[in-house]
Amino acid sequence: MKSLIQKLTETFSPSGYESAIRDVIRAEVEPLADEIRVDALGNLIVRKGARSEQGKRIMLAGHMDEIGLIASHIDENGFVRFTTIGGIRPQVLHGARVVFVNGTRGVIGGERYENWNQMHPYEKMFIDVGAASAKDCPVRVGDMAAFERAFMDMGDKLVAKSMDDRIGVAVMIETLRQLKSTPHEVYFVFTTQEEVTLGGAATAAFGLDPEIGISVDVTATGDTPKGEKMEVSLGKGPAVKIKDGGMLADPRIVDWMIRTAEKSKIPYQREVLLGGTTDAKAMQVARAGVPAGCVSIPCRYIHSPSEMVETNDVQNAVKLLVAMLSAPVSLD
Ligand code: CO
Ligand code: ZN
Repeated sequence: MKSLIQKLTETFSPSGYESAIRDVIRAEVEPLADEIRVDALGNLIVRKGARSEQGKRIMLAGHMDEIGLIASHIDENGFVRFTTIGGIRPQVLHGARVVFVNGTRGVIGGERYENWNQMHPYEKMFIDVGAASAKDCPVRVGDMAAFERAFMDMGDKLVAKSMDDRIGVAVMIETLRQLKSTPHEVYFVFTTQEEVTLGGAATAAFGLDPEIGISVDVTATGDTPKGEKMEVSLGKGPAVKIKDGGMLADPRIVDWMIRTAEKSKIPYQREVLLGGTTDAKAMQVARAGVPAGCVSIPCRYIHSPSEMVETNDVQNAVKLLVAMLSAPVSLD
């Protein structure tokens, strides 16, 4: 899976500009799909299986988009001021490199520090694209950029920009590949615009009208020095979301995940995430309501140019999803 993860994470597709990553994913999933299409908001929808007597219509959602920066103002000397697409803390920006959708590259600099103990807000930073004036600046207001950072293979651990949520995308592709037979009608939906509005998942869920919704996304960990107060660690298995900043997972979905993990002897962790949410939030409140949950891949340094996951967790997330989708499920 490593070369797939490298290919996915080294593609630039901030929210709203998912066509590059969609082409990469499409090439992987097309041979595995019973049906494949792209909807009005750009979601890539792949069906596998048909709904049998004991089967359900299940939507899996993994978002294709990644966090980014958007140009808000270009000054007379050609420096680009910006705001963020998705929540990005200013401390990860100094020295970062970015690539605009139009191919322009830049580095992030900042105004002089008066007080080194106080981090600049991003209003005091800028993107330097090497221009000398507004006139010769190749970036216009509204142009979007994503982090540039090469994939790094550390053996057990993998580091890249956009592990959020290309690692979820990789898990879904591998699940689709390994799923030999299913009683369910499963829709693998590679969604758009998760980082800004959850709009891709919301509209796809309206269109598909699933009976169950599961997102596959990253979650934070509490296993770094003085890190988040959180039980999840790298390497202890996929996390079963119980709560995050936007939703309570449906307890029946939580039970289904845990039951399956225990029966199949797959390690798992219980997740309560204090901030942030996933496509599951949008699926849960689609139409008249959809029981929804999330299989999370533990990830350090989320929303930075160097997001870290552990290969065991990735493999075990695939195993859990394959086991869940291979057998009938009752939510009663
Ligand atoms: Co995110
Ligand atoms: Zn995400």
